[in-house]
Amino acid sequence: MKEITIQKPDDWHLHFRDGDFLAETVPATARCFQRAIVMPNLMPPMANAEMVLAYRERIKTALPTGSHFEPLMTLYLTNSTGLDDIRQAKAAGVIAAKLYPAGGTTNSSAAPSDLATMTPVFEVMQEVGMPLLVHGEVTDSHIDIFDREKVFIDRYLQKIVQDHPYLKVVMEHITTAEAAQFVAEASENVAATITPQHLLLNRNDMLVGGIRPHNFCLPVLKRNTHQEALRTAVASGSHKYFLGSDSAPHEKHQKESACGCAGCYSAWSALELYTQVFDELNVLDKLNGFASCHGADFYGLPRNQGTVTLVKETWTVPEEIILLNGKPIIPFFAGQEVHWRVKIND
Ligand code: NCD
Ligand code: ZN
Repeated sequence: MKEITIQKPDDWHLHFRDGDFLAETVPATARCFQRAIVMPNLMPPMANAEMVLAYRERIKTALPTGSHFEPLMTLYLTNSTGLDDIRQAKAAGVIAAKLYPAGGTTNSSAAPSDLATMTPVFEVMQEVGMPLLVHGEVTDSHIDIFDREKVFIDRYLQKIVQDHPYLKVVMEHITTAEAAQFVAEASENVAATITPQHLLLNRNDMLVGGIRPHNFCLPVLKRNTHQEALRTAVASGSHKYFLGSDSAPHEKHQKESACGCAGCYSAWSALELYTQVFDELNVLDKLNGFASCHGADFYGLPRNQGTVTLVKETWTVPEEIILLNGKPIIPFFAGQEVHWRVKIND
């Protein structure tokens, strides 16, 4: 196949950041996605409805004229999230609440330190119908970073799902065979997003021949058997998995550093790279479900009306992008070839 038309897709997990980033990140996603779930891990975290709504307005201001893109907003769960915070967020149209591992990733220090205390919050979320989005990793210093996702499932996620059978839970950016299996075997209320980097790469792509900070994200890339399991998961066409790019820009100096930040800025190539993966797997017929149907169905939102057409043509991702403040970002796959391109977007 040389060309494919899919229903207009959505990105169910990304980071737009704020301030000078928005003029770059919002148009980059709005170019081909109709909606995106926007993560709340700003400084300070978006921990109440008022903050989230003000952030949504800043995002809308950054949209290209005439764009119909819709940001779907999330609430950041903290130690002090109250039951009214959840109710107010729900009433304000906030789509979901995000649980970070305390201290485990970018701007996560405000996350709950003890998940046992979150039970009343999860109960209210279940009651009002607010999905829980989980960054599923433990942060105990003695747990190896490559095992942190699996340990989180065994120690916490099994129980959260069991104790709250009607709570919708999305395990975000899954990276392991165990996570793919957990989601496949869980109820219809449990699903997962999968990023382009975890389908395209494994930890060799980050560490062999020199350390590659622009392939560093969290949860960290795993060994190739896990990459294969994720590829098998999307190739299955299961509605449990959907597109969430986790596009997460950091300024160049924050990535290329003695203590580099986690996150890949993939907004300019994510849809194209997913298409490339589905093509490699010979399952282009499954792309429409993954990119444009499974997420909307899970969240109970209508599927989009328009379409996007991609063609099999090679182009090269730019080496860098300059922000409004003059600072550079290195995009994911910088200087590398991508074999699919968005041709028509209506
Ligand atoms: C994200 C970021 O930079 O905000 N980074 C990442 O590696 N995925 C945070 C997150 O989703 O963990
Ligand atoms: Zn993320």
